[in-house]
Amino acid sequence: MEQPPRQNRNVTNIMQIERVLAREVLDSRGRPTVEVEVTFGGHAGRSIVPSGASTGQFEAWELRDTTDHWYDGTSVRTAVKHVNEILGPAILGLNAVDQQAIDQRLIELDGTPNKSRLGANAVLGVSLATAHAAAAGQRVRLDQHLHQVWRDVTRIQTGQEAAPPSIPLPMVNMISGGLHAGGNLDFQDFLAIPVGAPTYRVALEWIVRIYRHLGKLLNKAGFEGTLVGDEGGYGPHVTSPHAAAEFVVRAIEAAGLQPGSDVCLGLDVASTHFYENGRYRLIASGGQELTSSQMVDLLDDLVAKFPIISIEDGIADADWDGWRLLTDRLRTKVQLIGDDLFVTNHQRLREGIEKDVANSVLVKVNQIGTISETMQTIRLALDNNYWPVISARSGETEDATIADLAVATGAGQIKIGSVARSERLAKYNQLLRLEEYLGEQGNYQGGKIFEHRLKRTN
Ligand code: PGA
Ligand code: ZN
Repeated sequence: MEQPPRQNRNVTNIMQIERVLAREVLDSRGRPTVEVEVTFGGHAGRSIVPSGASTGQFEAWELRDTTDHWYDGTSVRTAVKHVNEILGPAILGLNAVDQQAIDQRLIELDGTPNKSRLGANAVLGVSLATAHAAAAGQRVRLDQHLHQVWRDVTRIQTGQEAAPPSIPLPMVNMISGGLHAGGNLDFQDFLAIPVGAPTYRVALEWIVRIYRHLGKLLNKAGFEGTLVGDEGGYGPHVTSPHAAAEFVVRAIEAAGLQPGSDVCLGLDVASTHFYENGRYRLIASGGQELTSSQMVDLLDDLVAKFPIISIEDGIADADWDGWRLLTDRLRTKVQLIGDDLFVTNHQRLREGIEKDVANSVLVKVNQIGTISETMQTIRLALDNNYWPVISARSGETEDATIADLAVATGAGQIKIGSVARSERLAKYNQLLRLEEYLGEQGNYQGGKIFEHRLKRTN
């Protein structure tokens, strides 16, 4: 007989899981994904797992039935079966409120470092749905329950009390490229970051205004100002990163806002996807092949010319030397986010901290596979002055859990995609609700999180 998992000291409510049920549903790209329901005592929690396109090689394993003709080899029926026949039965009777104990059991059942036996999509579906069920059972909101879990994680990891929940600063996709928009541009995202907005509600209004103006500006210049990529950003064939950044700056001005003080720019270069044999191959902008140091020069030039405050994956996940150059050059001016580099993995982030590269980490729940591990990574980041940015995937759904997660952990920033397509708006709208529920503008820090740590000259 296996021993029941250790009970967390702070978990007093007992809600024994009675039923776990998974099914195959579809994500925002019409690709199959895993949905899980967890039930006890008339309360149910449900959640849907997201899926990336520009995935990193070190991510937890997404299980797909590649040889099955059902959905052309993209089906998740085996992952669903693993929930219904292995993970679900193993957590029946366990306390849904004790997220860490449930997650620990799930991790043990899979038994591999990257969840490749049962599939990270199977494991994550159960982990997320458990949190929803626990919130319902305690008659509290999801963000409130997740904040309790966050307090436990914080106490265990640091012996300290967690900071109160807070509404995050959104960084919002305006122009999409790379694997999200058919290779029109080499860089994946050009984002607007409303650093000067006093509240989230105002930030969102600014962003929508900028987005509308950007569409008009693109159309007027003869580019596609209506076609959107996977995350709802426009997908124009502007080819050069400078031209794309210029359009975003002009859209900020057209919206009556000040680039640099009201709204800054961010980039997700997603450079891993054009890194080959030690060179960065810029196909859309003319086929140049750059060394790591030339790639850093290119980013430095963009930072000099535009009010860029954040760069994600400016260097590829396998290029630690390139990350060293990038960090040395830009760390005092720009938030340098590791996405493919860290893959929300505690161990990889620790390696990054030890090597002193990047100063920020992207946090995607399905890169690691459980809520507890996600929170451990956020905690590690905060404790080492790395900004955590909670992020959606390019394949999303109506599930808005990450909005609650961002608020519960007070991570400070969120990246969901653009302000078009309902799988994106599901999260933006949830943040509007939470801002209202939390009162006092949801303890919104906005762009203040960068103050005293980043020096900008333009
Ligand atoms: P992905 O894109 O979900 O396709 O990985 C998001 C990102 O790279 O940040
Ligand atoms: Zn990314």
